Amino acid sequence: MGLLLASTGSADDGYRLWLKYDRVTDRARLKQYRAKIRAIVIPGKSATDVALKTELQRGLNGLLGRELPIKPAGQTRNTLVVVTRREFGEAKIPEFTGVLDSLGPEGYAIRELKIGGGKTLVIAANEDRGLLYGAFGFLRALQTHRSLDRIDIVSKPKVRFRLLNHWDNLDGTVERGYAGKSLWRWSELPWTLSPRYVDYARACASIGINGTVLNNVNANPRILTAEYLARVEALAGIFRSYGIRVFLSANFSSPIAAGFEQEGNRKGGIGNLNTSDPLDPAVRAWWKEKVAEIYHLIPDFGGFLVKASSEGMPGPQEYGRSHADGANMLAEALQPFGGVVMWRSFVYDAANDADRVKRAFKEFVPLDGQFMPNVLVQAKNGPLDFQPREPVQPLFGAMTGTPMMLELQITQEYLGHSTHMVYLAPMWKEYLQFETYACGPGSSLASIVDGSLRKPALTGIAGVANIGDDLNWCGHLFAQANWYAYGRLAWDHSLAAESIADEWIAMTFGRGSKVHSTIRSMMMGSWEACVNYMTPLGLHHIMQEGFHYGPAPQHDTGREDWRSTYYHRADSIGLGYNRSSSGSNAVAQYASPLREQFDSVSHCPEKYLLWFHHVGWDYRMRSGRTLWEELCHKYSAGTGYVDAMLGQWESLRGAVDSESFVHVKTKLEKQRVDAGIWRHTCLGYFRRYIKHPLPQPLSPNGRGE
Ligand code: GCU
Repeated sequence: MGLLLASTGSADDGYRLWLKYDRVTDRARLKQYRAKIRAIVIPGKSATDVALKTELQRGLNGLLGRELPIKPAGQTRNTLVVVTRREFGEAKIPEFTGVLDSLGPEGYAIRELKIGGGKTLVIAANEDRGLLYGAFGFLRALQTHRSLDRIDIVSKPKVRFRLLNHWDNLDGTVERGYAGKSLWRWSELPWTLSPRYVDYARACASIGINGTVLNNVNANPRILTAEYLARVEALAGIFRSYGIRVFLSANFSSPIAAGFEQEGNRKGGIGNLNTSDPLDPAVRAWWKEKVAEIYHLIPDFGGFLVKASSEGMPGPQEYGRSHADGANMLAEALQPFGGVVMWRSFVYDAANDADRVKRAFKEFVPLDGQFMPNVLVQAKNGPLDFQPREPVQPLFGAMTGTPMMLELQITQEYLGHSTHMVYLAPMWKEYLQFETYACGPGSSLASIVDGSLRKPALTGIAGVANIGDDLNWCGHLFAQANWYAYGRLAWDHSLAAESIADEWIAMTFGRGSKVHSTIRSMMMGSWEACVNYMTPLGLHHIMQEGFHYGPAPQHDTGREDWRSTYYHRADSIGLGYNRSSSGSNAVAQYASPLREQFDSVSHCPEKYLLWFHHVGWDYRMRSGRTLWEELCHKYSAGTGYVDAMLGQWESLRGAVDSESFVHVKTKLEKQRVDAGIWRHTCLGYFRRYIKHPLPQPLSPNGRGE
């Protein structure tokens, strides 16, 4: 277990995440930091002030290697002063006045000022939440060995709701979780509070996450019973000091009187009604009462996340009602308390269209503008399901009158679970920078999500968490980088994937230059490598059914839109799903000129080629290779990258701590075997359809051995 031990953390078990606070190794920097920070002044007294004071002391004592005193307000020379506008008095910090006006409740500024003849470092914000983020921002500056001379950092989040979505079940299992059991120990709550809850909140706050949905979207209605709400209240009480609001996934049939004793049984409720029809007055009253009960316990409760009429989950459609009817009923109950509904668009009713990727769009676009102002429609980044690579979900561009919340997946459901090292920030950046042309050029997905394009009243981003009760939180040490990168991008999507990697590496492994550059180089290409050895050139959903780990291109039974053959459509002519205007015409869901570009086999970006087109095996790719040769080339590039990562990691033997070294090496060795299996299985399967000799030997390790 090591749980209590873990709070102090040993040097290398991974528990401390990126908040290690080991003493600064660069001597010149250490000298500068010690000279400039001799004491801390934090006049605020709120629970958040106490939390950030504890963090700053812990962090600075560790980084500077000495105990720093907390001094009363008024002492400023060589001091770190942490103040809101109210505490400091605007007149005394004219340097901040204009800046503070633009920072909102969560932004912060860090500057070195001349006060009374001496120099003072000041973290300033409008509210204590801003100071909290400022404190973590300041610690990050030291952890990454930034100079404090004339330091000038101004930062505020681009998106309002920056949430983690935990797919945690009440029985302690985690859907698509690969890092142990749920962090939430429901059977011990509310009496026993694991110290881990605080460490979770610290980690989230350090990267700007300000909300958490505690339970699985395949929601057990019992989460809304008084028994569970008391437990939720206990967690909310801990998270509040760290600026984190609690949200819950709600089961749409909760008002119904029926048991929900097993996790697999998705229908049934906790109430006494015989319907959950959203237009039924008794149902509406039930939700109002339930919501009032929640806010009585948790005054800052965030709201509900809802998966309805999807994959067997109950929803308004059972009563002939629309998603808007369902969402608005809940929104009406939450509105007086300031709560929101995050209504998921992950629906794919086969009756709507033969092509699964078109279905959410067809269901939701007609409802655009019908949702109450406190509803966000939460859509996954792509139109299918968190594949290694997809084009952006076109719904984002088409829903002009509805706040669209972006759902990303941090847990690697389709990208090698917690075994493969895949740094996801480059993937998220590809989505965020994706040009939708929704309002002409300059309509990136990021501009829709952060509201700069259409100015919706609410903005949000959610990441499906990769966290469990494994001692190192994420199963794979490098999966911590994805939790970290998610938070940083949710705060500021303009950050580069490289610079986020740089921060994480410095905070996790220290500043050794060889270690740093080697790890950075491993991380930066790891996503493209995974795409290459799993699903290159736009292939998708050819994983083992249900498990979604290894390859299963041959899978051809059961529900049609869960079969691999439905997606890759390999035949003697070629490979790929024809979604062009001569096929399912999914391209028409994108705005011009994207739609024309995707529609044309020669203009379609090759990374999406087999997503949108059924292409002949002898089709000439831009490289000059045929499709088949290109496929072989990509699979080999993917396996080759993993080979190289193993070599790079080996070169760090002795330079990183031995526990981390062995942990990562073991995972990389398995990844190398898996990548070879992917290559071998997929090329072996596809070659059945073609007559050509293979350009390279097919073997599990990709090297002909
Ligand atoms: C995927 C995933 C499920 C999950 C679903 C969702 O289908 O495999 O486990 O419940 O997405 O996002 O609702």
